[in-house]
Amino acid sequence: MDGTPRVALLGLHGFGRVHLDGLLRLAATGAVRVAGLADPRPPAPDALERVRALPGGADVPVLADAATLLEQVRPDVTIVSTPIHTHLPLARLALGVGSHLFLEKPPTASMEQFRDLSAEVTAAGRVCQVGFQSLGSHTLAHAARLVADGAVGRVRGVGVHGAWVRERSYFTRAAWAGRMELDGLPVTDGALTNPFAHATASALRVAGVPDDADITVELERYRVASPESDDTAAARLTVAGTPIVVAVTLCAAEQRPPLIVVHGEQGRLELEYTTDTLTGRTADGTPVTGPPGRTVLLDNLVAHLADPTVPLLAPLASCAPFMHLLEAVRRDGPARPMPPGAVTEIDGRPVVVDADETMRRCAEELALFSELPAPRPVVRG
Ligand SMILES: NC(=O)c1ccc[n+]([C@@H]2O[C@H](COP(=O)([O-])OP(=O)(O)OC[C@H]3O[C@@H](n4cnc5c(N)ncnc54)[C@H](O)[C@@H]3O)[C@@H](O)[C@H]2O)c1
Repeated sequence: MDGTPRVALLGLHGFGRVHLDGLLRLAATGAVRVAGLADPRPPAPDALERVRALPGGADVPVLADAATLLEQVRPDVTIVSTPIHTHLPLARLALGVGSHLFLEKPPTASMEQFRDLSAEVTAAGRVCQVGFQSLGSHTLAHAARLVADGAVGRVRGVGVHGAWVRERSYFTRAAWAGRMELDGLPVTDGALTNPFAHATASALRVAGVPDDADITVELERYRVASPESDDTAAARLTVAGTPIVVAVTLCAAEQRPPLIVVHGEQGRLELEYTTDTLTGRTADGTPVTGPPGRTVLLDNLVAHLADPTVPLLAPLASCAPFMHLLEAVRRDGPARPMPPGAVTEIDGRPVVVDADETMRRCAEELALFSELPAPRPVVRG
């Protein structure tokens, strides 16, 4: 690659809007050039206007077909921000024209696809950054260093709890939303594998789980508003005897930032990975805070391409531990319908009774729903 990287974006709506913002910000500084955009749905008029307003923006191709765009512009970097089941085929097309990748999370819809893609990225001599943006957080890196340095003593376990609010329209926005499969292909969309994928990926990073770790996964998955996959679930990943419990719902009464709790034998850390807020106490009772700030993952990829001694913050290989969770979810199949007695309604949207408290208790007890001590949670069915 000579000079300024030329970056293409596949997927312009949904989260693609965030990528377009990032791309235009970097293009305005001269760090990248916009090579082209593709989406079968035409871009929003304001998005197109902003691209056309760039120096040379009038010539940026905006096409419906990703393969045609990639062949035409042969970008240095391709951002793939499309439905999960399209990641592998689009990544292959991009690698085929010699492009590096910025691939949205979850990177693929199955472990087999992940292994195939990893081998193909290596064989092509390209790099792939995955859109786990919290892995660019300086606060999260600080928490991981504290854990690695034994600041909270031996880690008994890590708990993550999340309670978000998603309207019914979230699950009907696209044919793939909340689906395990589409047209016979794995999709593996769900609370654990998509919106709260960051929760698990962040917890694994804080716990210092190596890429090649042997991980067992236990699951309890329910659906309330989701057509097929989980919107309320608890997972326990066990790594060398240490449990990492992730308990999450998209059907909470109120939205709040998810929390990672590191249970050390001599201390405790609490990290809100969406707001980069770190609190807690180390073994000697010192209160913990974290350095603020985040490195944006696209900026990190561009910096890495200019100088390979700059490490990628979320390389494809580092997603292997998370992929154990995704593969377990895929094999688990459709989530169980939530028992009607566990669901109420607020403003026309289904809400799991006591969801917030139940998720907190799972993270605190390092327990699945069915294992929580009395009082018995309604989620348990
Ligand atoms: N990092 C994050 O925090 C975050 C947040 C939301 C979504 N995501 C990820 O971003 C990806 C997209 O999710 P979304 O919610 O925006 O989906 P979406 O369905 O709302 O939007 C996807 C866009 O991709 C387009 N598209 C589909 N097939 C395409 C193709 N072959 N070529 C080009 N464009 C194509 C669609 O027309 C649509 O505009 C998913 O992988 C999702 O998990 C990441």
